[in-house]
Amino acid sequence: MGTLAGQVALITGGGRGIGAETAKLLAQHGATVALVARTREQLEATAAQIRDAGGTAYWFVADVSDEGAMREVVQSAFGITHNIDILVNNAGFIQSVGAIENSDPTAWWRTLEGNLKGLYLTTRLVLPSMLEQGRGQIVNVLSIAGARAFAGLSAYSCAKAAGLMFTRILAKEVRKRGVRVMAILPGAVDTAIWGEGENIPDREKMIRPQTVAQTILQMLLLPPDATVDELLLLPQEGIL
Ligand SMILES: NC(=O)c1ccc[n+]([C@@H]2O[C@H](COP(=O)([O-])OP(=O)(O)OC[C@H]3O[C@@H](n4cnc5c(N)ncnc54)[C@H](OP(=O)(O)O)[C@@H]3O)[C@@H](O)[C@H]2O)c1
Repeated sequence: MGTLAGQVALITGGGRGIGAETAKLLAQHGATVALVARTREQLEATAAQIRDAGGTAYWFVADVSDEGAMREVVQSAFGITHNIDILVNNAGFIQSVGAIENSDPTAWWRTLEGNLKGLYLTTRLVLPSMLEQGRGQIVNVLSIAGARAFAGLSAYSCAKAAGLMFTRILAKEVRKRGVRVMAILPGAVDTAIWGEGENIPDREKMIRPQTVAQTILQMLLLPPDATVDELLLLPQEGIL
């Protein structure tokens, strides 16, 4: 029997990258996983891999910043699985907005909102059932950019820094009611988020998405007497 047997995990951004690797690993450890992203084909492909390996996976196409769509996703997920024990808030995207002095206000707000709104909305929708059960775990996938300053990334970094404070405040609000709230702040991870550009750090030196997934699994498997709080996971060779 898997170490997460009987538990249901909702993973946003589960179609590819860190979210997909986390979904596969949690499913290998017995969790039923529900994936959310906007690209149907990637969700289908990840879910198919999980099912082929003997796991249980469901998927939902939605933009995490769309409250109505996320309400439907969470209701549908509850309809199928009856429970959500684990929430991994992982959906996000990196967007350089350039120097603040030259940045485009529309792009700036879109980047901030796109990396923050879904974290709040999904948590807001899933949390009541966790509190009712008196147990649950939330892992917010943030970034080193939420803790250290990188020129050009002001909107993304502000979203991730806000996510960190959100994590701290939520943890304070719910820790005595059985819900564990944790944040992981990875440095550069070798996924599609970096695109194909020439100015990206050396992919060989980045963290593998599978390593982030393993770390999230270890966080979730901690005994209930402790919490990870916030964890910086950096490439061994020190880039980003
Ligand atoms: N890779 C890194 O170097 C790195 C470092 C630190 C932190 N992170 C964080 O890790 C998380 C995952 O990143 P990744 O590297 O795995 O990127 P990725 O490979 O681009 O995957 C991102 C996932 O999030 C989904 N997504 C993005 N915006 C969404 C939205 N509005 N609604 C629903 N789904 C959405 C994407 O699917 P669709 O586009 O199909 O919706 C995709 O499944 C992000 O929050 C990112 O900020 C990444």
